[in-house]
Amino acid sequence: MDNSMIQQGWHASHALAVASLYENAFGHKFKAAIPSKAQRIHLLAESFDPDFSFVVIANEKIVGIAGYQTAQGSLTGGITLKRLWRVLGFWRGTWAALVLSLFERKPDPKELIMDGIVVDPACRGLGLGSELLSHIITYARENQYQKVRLDVIDSNPRARKLYDEKGFLPVRTDRFPALKWLVGFSGSTTMVYEIQAS
Ligand SMILES: CC(C)(COP(=O)(O)OP(=O)(O)OC[C@H]1O[C@@H](n2cnc3c(N)ncnc32)[C@H](O)[C@@H]1OP(=O)(O)O)[C@@H](O)C(=O)NCCC(=O)NCCS
Repeated sequence: MDNSMIQQGWHASHALAVASLYENAFGHKFKAAIPSKAQRIHLLAESFDPDFSFVVIANEKIVGIAGYQTAQGSLTGGITLKRLWRVLGFWRGTWAALVLSLFERKPDPKELIMDGIVVDPACRGLGLGSELLSHIITYARENQYQKVRLDVIDSNPRARKLYDEKGFLPVRTDRFPALKWLVGFSGSTTMVYEIQAS
């Protein structure tokens, strides 16, 4: 895309737009935890830590985002139990925390974990997802991480193709059909990009 640029993080004024973009792609995973779409967007907008992301901006609009997690923090790390209680109340907040804990991953000190990558549906297929992923890999290399890890769900061949072509290799596949009603998918593959020392 000619008129687009990639930068780390975003200005606070973009928080709601970024949250909507992210929710649009991943809301189905969080439906059981937080049934209200408006509450999911509200929670994401106030929880996101933009420092742990790269975004694509085109015509002053954010049209792509790639979040990540390191031992220092993560894009979605602000979704704490305290915040869930405040936004959803005690019981619904506790339930949401329990469901969301199923998605929790802990990075090794030398590992960067992807925390969601999404491109605006109107801008897909133009190379933006690939560019965002390249930025993540370059950032990981420049900051001495040894690998980039991610999980891709079994029903997302488009994302899987993107990771395969970028050089990510599958290291583990988990199947959990009994949990589909809770997490929105029935299996996932963990993929790793090993960063070669230069
Ligand atoms: C996955 C996603 C980020 C890719 O973004 P994108 O900007 O469309 O990707 P690109 O244009 O850079 O395409 C990269 C590769 O994806 C694959 N791809 C792109 N469009 C595709 C399509 N219509 N069908 C199948 N594969 C496709 C191709 O391998 C492509 O490489 P190629 O152009 O060399 O063939 C985007 O589809 C998206 O936001 N999906 C919803 C959120 C999501 O599923 N995120 C991943 C979670 S693990």
